Amino acid sequence: MRLAINIDHVATLRNARGGKFPEPIQAALICERAGAVGIVCHLREDRRHIRDEDVFRLRQEITTKLDLEMAVTPEIISIAKRVKPELATLVPEKRKELTTEGGLDVIRNSQQLKKAIAQLHDSGIAVSLFVDPVREQIEESKIIGADMIEIHTGEYADARTSSARKKYLQEIQIIATFARKLDLAVNAGHGLDYTNIKPIATIGEIEEVSIGHAIIARAVFVGLERAVSEMVDLIKKRKT
Ligand code: PXP
Repeated sequence: MRLAINIDHVATLRNARGGKFPEPIQAALICERAGAVGIVCHLREDRRHIRDEDVFRLRQEITTKLDLEMAVTPEIISIAKRVKPELATLVPEKRKELTTEGGLDVIRNSQQLKKAIAQLHDSGIAVSLFVDPVREQIEESKIIGADMIEIHTGEYADARTSSARKKYLQEIQIIATFARKLDLAVNAGHGLDYTNIKPIATIGEIEEVSIGHAIIARAVFVGLERAVSEMVDLIKKRKT
């Protein structure tokens, strides 16, 4: 199984001060050096974290692949067609949500999604649909021309009991097998972290996971000691 890393949170931190740092591109290059096979970013309609210029810069400078998460709107589709990421992952987007809250309703939005997939395909962009592990949603994804699905693992990650978690894991396994039979490529993501990834990693049908929050959050603690000691050194060496 391969790992793609979502770097939206680096942009959130940058935007908190309105300046340039930390730069998402720098984070992306570190992720690539550390073994990520792709960089994921979500250009939201409200541009709360990643901005247009970040996406264009990522496109130019990363050497793995770019997965652009996006809502199905004419504006974002037109940006995607100019950026030409290797993969566009279509997600539902609500203005007030803290993060993507669930999978697409592919059945209800079938015509709109079909049109978007065709437009993106015209520019040579492969398309993945972020979906809950529900058989009918996967069937419809295939019918309307998706290349891939990303299974929403949020319910699995948020499960409060081990029996609930086991049930969601089984659903994910069954859906991953079903999707592969339909010849859809299968990714998974949302809420995956250092404590819940192992069972997901045993599902051979899932080719790639997309993880953001847990990795960027851990990076703070893994890196904090060095960050503090570098500053302590600078302070001690100051000339009066
Ligand atoms: N996949 C999709 C479609 C997402 O919207 C997100 C969140 O941006 C992720 C994966 C990553 O989720 P997390 O930040 O919880 O790892």
